Formats: sequence, structure tokens, C-alpha cells
Amino acid sequence: MAHETGQIESISGPVVKARGLHGVRMYEVVRVGHEQLIGEVIEVGDDICTVQCYEETSGLSPGEPVVATGDALSVELGPGLIGSIYDGIQRPLPELKEMSGDFISRGLTVEGLDKEKKWTFIPSVNKGEMVEPGSVIGEVPETGIITSKIMIPLGIKGEITEIVSKGDYTVVETICKVKDDHGDIHEVMMMQKTAVRKGRPFKERVPMNTPLITGQRVIDTFMPQAKGGTGAIPGGFGTGKTVTLHQFAKWADAQVVVYVGCGERGNEMTEALEEWPSLKDPQSGRPLMERTVLIANTSNMPVAAREASIYVAVTLAEYFRDQGLDVALMADSTSRWAEALREISGRLGQLPSEEGYPAYLGSRLAQFYERGGRVKALGGKDRIGSITLCGAVSPPGGDFSEPVTQATLRIVKVFWALDKDLAARRFFPAINTLTSYSLYHNNLEKWHREHLGTDWPDLVTEAMAILQKDQELREIVQLVGPDALPESERAILEAARMIKEDFLTQSALHEIDTFCPIGKTYRMLRTIIRFTRKMTRAVKLGVNVRRILEFSVLDNIARMKIAPWDSYESTMDKIETKMEREFQALFNELTEAGFITPEI
Ligand SMILES: Nc1ncnc2c1ncn2[C@@H]1O[C@H](COP(=O)(O)OP(=O)(O)OP(=O)(O)O)[C@@H](O)[C@H]1O
Ligand SMILES: [Mg+2]
Repeated sequence: MAHETGQIESISGPVVKARGLHGVRMYEVVRVGHEQLIGEVIEVGDDICTVQCYEETSGLSPGEPVVATGDALSVELGPGLIGSIYDGIQRPLPELKEMSGDFISRGLTVEGLDKEKKWTFIPSVNKGEMVEPGSVIGEVPETGIITSKIMIPLGIKGEITEIVSKGDYTVVETICKVKDDHGDIHEVMMMQKTAVRKGRPFKERVPMNTPLITGQRVIDTFMPQAKGGTGAIPGGFGTGKTVTLHQFAKWADAQVVVYVGCGERGNEMTEALEEWPSLKDPQSGRPLMERTVLIANTSNMPVAAREASIYVAVTLAEYFRDQGLDVALMADSTSRWAEALREISGRLGQLPSEEGYPAYLGSRLAQFYERGGRVKALGGKDRIGSITLCGAVSPPGGDFSEPVTQATLRIVKVFWALDKDLAARRFFPAINTLTSYSLYHNNLEKWHREHLGTDWPDLVTEAMAILQKDQELREIVQLVGPDALPESERAILEAARMIKEDFLTQSALHEIDTFCPIGKTYRMLRTIIRFTRKMTRAVKLGVNVRRILEFSVLDNIARMKIAPWDSYESTMDKIETKMEREFQALFNELTEAGFITPEI
């Protein structure tokens, strides 16, 4: 079918107005100019329609052709996604680079999936079986970590009339035929295409009651994320947004990670690309890239593609979710995405709202975060998958009252606030425990009690109370000096120091401390809180805090973060025994001196 052709009327940055494209629809992809730049229709008028161009528009001039394609902006889904590195509109970057060198030339079409590579397809259905959208018809062992499920695409329902036997196929070969109610035959291949602007459908949402363990102690303890949850990490320049999201991508216990570098520095993406292939997934021991998809639309790439990259990423995430996998999507940074919205909206002449952002900023952000969640997938047996969304926010000047941070805060359920003072003191992760929060504590309590210890909620509450009290005491100390504090309050300062230095600080760069298994996090916190309880008791009996600070177990506590992942239990057992012994010796002394009546 010949597609509608129009002509460029005017060009303003990435926004192109075209005349004569009759019958074109919203969000349809068009090719712009002699170079056939890729664009998407974002406004349709009587004779003029507006297109946002995903490629540099310099050199384009009025009168050049604009050709409709009939398709909405879509992604290709199927085996081959994992391990890929895409630009904002799912073009594989390595292939683009191969075709055009370091500076990507324009108008290149490179498809998201390799159409020649063969994958081993193992069917799991038989002729005569009934299928519907989402029904699994077979599997492809894609990487050492991920076995892809091949599903019936949307819009196809009926009886299987043919299914291939186990063998090697490309993603575009027919592997199955389905006859619908009208007797029409639909050919199914491993690849399916989905438009990116709307979420992929699912059966229903289910409760989020499992944590997404990030291996970062401050997060897993005080503001935990749920699998399927939404979280934002706002912070000023250099406070640790990227490092934290990279930590999630490396260590979080998701099965698939989709990482979007959105408008940030290109060299950070390069670092990730150099480092990640050499890292191993802590759960499976396999290379990290075997569970990772990267989308890079760095600051030097066109602004409209940045706007699209978020939707491309979340659509890929939904495809894995629908297979019943737990997916984590990290976006760095949603502020750069919002700036892309602002730029385009400005060029469209829309009435600006706060700080020039369009009035629909909040609803667009909400639409993005709504695509997270834990759901039952379509098609037959109950498959539960989740998408956890974590976005960095970069407020100018670190001022959280600006529109993007505020709009995000109203939507997300976890808020990890980075603090520039902590970062300046190189207290990392620089997450402010007093202003950050998670609304998932209640959902996750059962899991924590069952998997860690029934005392977990109490330990967390006690630790948080100590940190709060510490803050108050510090204000007093500033006014009247430390000598004015009674011993019991000095003990609290000491307990808070242990929590902060020996537990909360965690170096992303340390070979062991970069990741903390949740069991180790629990044991570390328990040790510090037990120490605190005993210290409080001793102080009540008249012991000087200084005396307790001489305990040699404190050195062991200061080093517990570097206890190896696989043998931390025995280290922690030894530390707890030593702690008991040192306190027991102290209590024995007190008993002998007559301060304590021995229990009968
Ligand atoms: N958990 C951590 N462990 C060790 N160092 C850290 C940690 N978090 C941040 N840093 C240090 O802080 C520096 C800045 O962090 P990062 O690049 O993540 O900041 P950012 O908030 O992304 O900054 P920008 O606003 O420029 O994007 C890092 O290079 C690193 O030295
Ligand atoms: Mg950054």
C-alpha cells in the first residue's frame, strides 16, 4: 500500500510541521525529508500535522517530503532483547555504529531484533489446543539466566492447527498457526510488535508483598522497595543518583534489568558498558549482561528520542513481566526526560505551566509510573510478573520544591532523598534517613519476619528512633556542648554513630561491601541493636560510656561490613559471642561490686 506523502511546512528544532498528510493518525511514525529521518506525529490538524523528529533536523528544508508509514511507534519483542544496547527508539547501538561510525548518520533503519539469528524453540503446546493472547506456546533458552517464554500476541485467539517441533528458527519464521472462530488462520512467529505509548494489557494487579532486595543496607532496611513498586531518587549534582541506580542494576534481585540512560552524560553509559560485562549476577553467578537490556539516549543525542526512550524501555519491561518475570527498570534521569517534554511543548507553543513545564507534566509522569506493578499476565495459567520502577530526579540546585520532584513525589511510593551535606562529607550512600521513606513497610513485614527474623520490625523501629534522637541531641550539643549531656544520652550518640558508620555507610566501590546480602544486613543491624540495649542497661547501672567504648568487639563491629558474602554467618556468630562475653564480664564486675543483685 502506498503511504500518504506530504511536505515540510516549517521546522523548529525537533518539531516539524507538515502539510498534506491526510488520514495520518496520532503517534504514527513518519519519515521526514530526503534523508528519511524518523519522526512521530504528535498533533493532527485539518491540513497541517506536527511531527517530533527523533534525529537531528539540521539541513532539513521546507518542501521536502514527509511520508507516513501507517505504524505507531512500536518495539520488536522476542528472543534477542537481553544483552542488547539500544538507542531511544530501539535501534541497536553497536549496529548503528558499525554502519556509520562514531557519529550516527541520519535516517538509518536498524531493527530491534536480529532477523537472521536462529534460536532453539521448544514447543509446549499441541495441535488442537485452544490459545488466547498471552498463552505460552513454547520456550527459548535465551541466555544462561533467562529462558524466554513465547506467547501468543494480542488479537489472536483460537485453535492451534500447526505447531513446529523443537528446532532452530529465526524470530520471523512461522512457528505456529491458529484458527480463529471465523475460520481465519493466523500465523504466529516468535517476534511480536507492540506500540509503546500504551501499556501492554494484563489480567489483574496483585498485592506487592515481596521486597526487591537491592543489597544496599540503608535502602533494604529503612526505605525498602517492593517488587512491582515505584521509587524515586532525587538529589543535587554529584550526590550519588547514578551510582545508586547502577548499584540497583548490578545487585537487585530482579530477573531482568532494563536500564535507561536518559539525557545523562555519555561517558557514564560507556563506563557501565565497560564494567557490567565483567560483572556477575550474585544470584546466578552468570554474567550480568545475561539479564540486562540497556537503552542509551545520552545528552548528545536528539531530545525527542529521549522522550520516547522511557516508553520504549517500559514496553520492553512489560514484555518480560508478561512472561512471569520480575523486572526492574531504572531511569537516569526522569528530569532530563521532563526537560525534553518541556522543549517540545515550548516549540508547539503550548501554554507553559510552572517553570515552563507543560501542564501535563504530572499526568505524563503518572502514566509512566502506573506501568509499574505486580500483575497476573494474560493467557491461561497464572503467571505473576512485576515491574519495579526507579527513577532518578535531578532538581536544579538540589531544590526539591521544583516541579519535577514535586510531581514525582505525589506518585511514587518510595522516596530516597539524597542529601548534599552527606555527600560533601563523603557519607555514602548519601541518603537522608530522616526525610526518606517507603510506604511498603506494612506490605513487606510478613516477608521480613519470615525470611529474616520476627524481631526485624522492632530492630528497624529502634534504629530509626535512635537516629531521630541523635538528630535532636546534636542540636542541643551545638548549643551547650557535649559535656551537658547525661551518660544515657551519650550512649544514644554512640549507638547512632555505630548505626551510621558501621551500618549505613556502604561503599559502592568496595569489592565486598558493594553488595550486602539481606541476611547479612539483618545480622549487622541485630548486633548493633543488641549492643545498644546492653550498653543502655550498663549505663543505667552507673557505667560510664567511655568504659564500654574500650570493648574490643567494637573493632570487630566496625569491620563486619567486609565479612564475605558466603561466610558472614560464622563471622557474625563470633562477633555476637564476643560481645556477650565482654558485656558479661562487665556485668560480673558490677555484681561483685554489689551494683547488681545476681538473679536467682
Ligand atoms: N554508594 C557510594 N559509594 C561510594 N561512592 C559513592 C557512592 N555514591 C556516590 N559516590 C561518589 O559520588 C560521586 C558522584 O556520584 P554520581 O555520579 O552517582 O552522582 P549523581 O547524583 O548521579 O550526579 P549528577 O547530578 O552529576 O548526575 C561518585 O563518583 C562517587 O565518587
Ligand atoms: Mg548522574
